[in-house]
Amino acid sequence: MNYQSIIDKYYPEGTPLRDIYMRHAQSVAELAEELRQKSAPELDAEQVRAAAMLHDIGIFLTSAPSIHCTGSAPYISHGPLGAEILRREGAPEWAARVAERHTGVGIPPLVPETRLERLVCYADKFYSKSGSMQRRSLQQVEASIARFGAENLAALKALEAEFPL
Ligand SMILES: [Fe+2]
Repeated sequence: MNYQSIIDKYYPEGTPLRDIYMRHAQSVAELAEELRQKSAPELDAEQVRAAAMLHDIGIFLTSAPSIHCTGSAPYISHGPLGAEILRREGAPEWAARVAERHTGVGIPPLVPETRLERLVCYADKFYSKSGSMQRRSLQQVEASIARFGAENLAALKALEAEFPL
């Protein structure tokens, strides 16, 4: 699928948000591919890449001025908003579902279910869109998720076990 044309439509070249978007999405796509090769070789590499590149497509609709998102929706809703965009654009349902379910370790009832959904959700946790945008250590990822409670940390640990680094 042509994921780049969807990105180009909502994140035009020459804007600061575009640069943040591409850098983050590419980092997530690279780690997802690494984890796919190690632990999920049955998944299609092109599908993993497209899903990773599109998972955050909804962020521009949210209010997160520090990363140049000047919309009005709460940041936490960028998953379902992104899924809505992808379905409207005629993107495959698997890509829409990845967007819909990737926030944190999933927000019930929108938790990652398929292996593709879990893989991209997990890879995403290693990359922030603010600050240095460098890869986080597993310890940093755990600390960021533990803030949301024991159930979230348990869900993260399950992803760690499914996709060992
Ligand atoms: Fe992300």
